[in-house]
Amino acid sequence: MSGLTEPLPGTSDLWEPEVAEWRDLEGIARNVFNRYGYTELRTPIMERTEVFVRNLGNETDVVQKEMYTFQDRGGRSLSLRPEGTAGVMRAIANHGLNTGEECRVFYMGPMFRGERPAAGRRRQFHQVGCEAVGCNSPWMDAETIAMLVHFLAELGITGAKVMVNSRGLPEDRPPIAAALKEYFRPHLAEMCPDCQRRFEGNVWRMLDCKVPACHEIALGAPHIADLLGEASKDFFAKVCDGLKSLGVDFEVAPRLVRGLDYYVHTVFEITHTALGAQDALAGGGRYQITLPGTNTAIEGVGFAAGIERLLMARNALGIKAEEQPAADTYIIGPSAPAIPVALQLAGELRSKSLGGRVHADFTGRSMKGQFRSANKSGAKRVLVIGDDELANGTVTCKNMADGSQTSVPRAEVAAWLEKISN
Ligand code: HAM
Repeated sequence: MSGLTEPLPGTSDLWEPEVAEWRDLEGIARNVFNRYGYTELRTPIMERTEVFVRNLGNETDVVQKEMYTFQDRGGRSLSLRPEGTAGVMRAIANHGLNTGEECRVFYMGPMFRGERPAAGRRRQFHQVGCEAVGCNSPWMDAETIAMLVHFLAELGITGAKVMVNSRGLPEDRPPIAAALKEYFRPHLAEMCPDCQRRFEGNVWRMLDCKVPACHEIALGAPHIADLLGEASKDFFAKVCDGLKSLGVDFEVAPRLVRGLDYYVHTVFEITHTALGAQDALAGGGRYQITLPGTNTAIEGVGFAAGIERLLMARNALGIKAEEQPAADTYIIGPSAPAIPVALQLAGELRSKSLGGRVHADFTGRSMKGQFRSANKSGAKRVLVIGDDELANGTVTCKNMADGSQTSVPRAEVAAWLEKISN
């Protein structure tokens, strides 16, 4: 049976106190992105496969090899979302966005890619991302990157590296692809099977192949930024100027192209050495997406960061969320007649929002056993309803930090707790 109780490879169960780390990170994300005027959007976890194929590009690894695709009962092809941008754009198209209007949203949640699991590479992973749609200014790209850097700073993640490049506009691409092919053609036989496949369909991706032999060859390839048209060069220069004026420390990375086809102009990635081989904390860029059901292309700029990887980096830097005890107030009532009294008192405290997390023990175990559980729960206060207390209509309130005890009439426990917590 043990195999059946384990989560699938590349997925996990999350328990406290790990969940506390996630809540902390999610809270910081909401707080920071709200300050930039982004509102939260939640889109479905599954979409029509078409939504991803059209927008991420048919030749990308994500679409070719990594999507979880299946047929529903009506024979429609559906996929679990491998990333958030395509679904966000579908939702915006459905909601309607008038010409000249902007939409800035952030999202967080699970994404699915059928990759080989490794440290930092999961099949169900979680992203927190932002998309600013409908603004074509290079300042928007600079502000997006600055906002991501700000988010990392609020998470306490220091030592991250920001890399930026440009892929230019679609019209810049044929001559660049031709120049890259001319460069790679004589080396093709020495390159990996993936690169040999990419040579025809997606020569750009040969620039950032991680296989050492391919990487060596790619080091000598022409720089994309040098081959861009004037308009794209100008756009990229403005993004770099914007980043400098916002005080962002960045590097231009000539071989950074990113794995998804929708990018135009700016692409960026943030890496961290604490992550090992899967070192990308976050990635993003400016993109052009043709809205489903229309021929209208709409531009946006955004990024997504892997929550597991952000947490790995925080962990490596020794940053911890505050741990939450299982209970703040633990009510002990060992005898059968004490149980309903304990439960009623717990109900009263919860409805008046007093005593924090309230746990009533109705196991009927001995006083000693219940005290042991109270200690384990981390409760600051134990309310005891023993035989004497039952007979007198009182509750003994024990402060677990200093061991002091107070006897309080049962009907006045809530008022007493309110008084001592003020
Ligand atoms: P991406 O680079 O494919 O971009 O993913 C963004 C981040 O998600 C990565 O930097 C990494 O931290 C995390 N990630 C990706 N795959 C995995 C995995 N298998 N296991 C764990 N973490 C992973 C996008 O998804 C784009 N939608 C970003 C974007 C938004 N571009 C524009 N807007």
